[in-house]
Amino acid sequence: MPLDRLPGAGYNKQKEEETVKFGILTSGGDCAGLNAVIRSIGMYLERNVRNAEIVGIPDGYGGLIRGESFPLKREMYEDILAVGGTVLGTSRQPFKKMTLPEEGGSKLSKMVANYRKMKLDCLFTLGGAGTHKNAALLSMEGCHVIGVPKTIDNDIYGTDVTFGFRTAVEVVTEAMDRIATTARSHHRIMLVEIMGNKAGWLTLHSGIAAGADMILIPEIPFSVDAVCETLKKRVDAGNAFTMIAVAEGAVLDSEVKYKKDERAFARRARGETTVTAHLAEVIGERTGVETRASVLGYLQRGGTPCAYDRLLCSRLGGRAAELAAAGKYGVTVAVSGSRITYNALEDIAGKYKLVDPAGETVRFARGIGISFGDRT
Ligand code: F6P
Repeated sequence: MPLDRLPGAGYNKQKEEETVKFGILTSGGDCAGLNAVIRSIGMYLERNVRNAEIVGIPDGYGGLIRGESFPLKREMYEDILAVGGTVLGTSRQPFKKMTLPEEGGSKLSKMVANYRKMKLDCLFTLGGAGTHKNAALLSMEGCHVIGVPKTIDNDIYGTDVTFGFRTAVEVVTEAMDRIATTARSHHRIMLVEIMGNKAGWLTLHSGIAAGADMILIPEIPFSVDAVCETLKKRVDAGNAFTMIAVAEGAVLDSEVKYKKDERAFARRARGETTVTAHLAEVIGERTGVETRASVLGYLQRGGTPCAYDRLLCSRLGGRAAELAAAGKYGVTVAVSGSRITYNALEDIAGKYKLVDPAGETVRFARGIGISFGDRT
């Protein structure tokens, strides 16, 4: 994104008595590192923008829709680097509903009106792909917005990595290591269900890190027959146990033609709860090996950020605040190689970064014998 396409003038040119008002909100599913970013933005603005006033918007876009904010004082953010969750609270506000008419105007029009009523000079939106879509809408309405890419799913387009992802990889890897001790002791097949509806990054990375024998991700549809054949071969070869990492969004090859909602409907109609629970039953029946499934759930989003994420959040938050201080809006910060850079919201909103089935990580995983449950 060339700088000349970005509006705004630096706040250092402001008159001495003027205050500059910054809002921060966290939106979508929580993850480790949100507080670290809030802290970094606060610390940077406080030191580098004269008369900076910082307010927190509670519960994500929900708070902006309701027109709520509160002063974010230094003592509220200076000691939260290692604290999980978000001190601002969060909520999900589906993009599809943003522009629908409702009493008092659409959610979008309410947010724009409240942004103006609050006299914000800039709003930081910390969130995932949905948050960025809503941020792009606000930006198109003339609000000054800067995004920061968060999610354990690591699926935001235009950034090599999102904050929260590395911590979740550590958590899932540790959980799988622990489950593997039971698998080994009982000679079982263990399926571990990992978050990620559209993207399999978390399942792929933690699966490899935990030494999984099979990894099932949304980007590589699997066949139940191929899965069971591979597992039978492992049993015949004398392997004492098997670890399978399954993304919650893993799809059967026969389901590819259906949309997410249709898939869920068909699965419910067949009496299946999650893809993992169903698969565990089938595998147990077909292989004759005791098979169990564990759903890791929300523990993947909780807890303190790992050192990598603390550093990343400090850099992303600092860069976002630096852009705000320079008056460069309508962007989201991003990681590109070893640099923290940024992309225009309009260029990334609505796009996802998915695992490339032919990419290096999958190729090398296959090379060391990891199965993806497909027919190769
Ligand atoms: O934050 C993303 C995510 O972790 C997805 O992987 C998962 O499907 C979703 O959140 C579940 O979130 P919730 O139940 O809080 O809406």
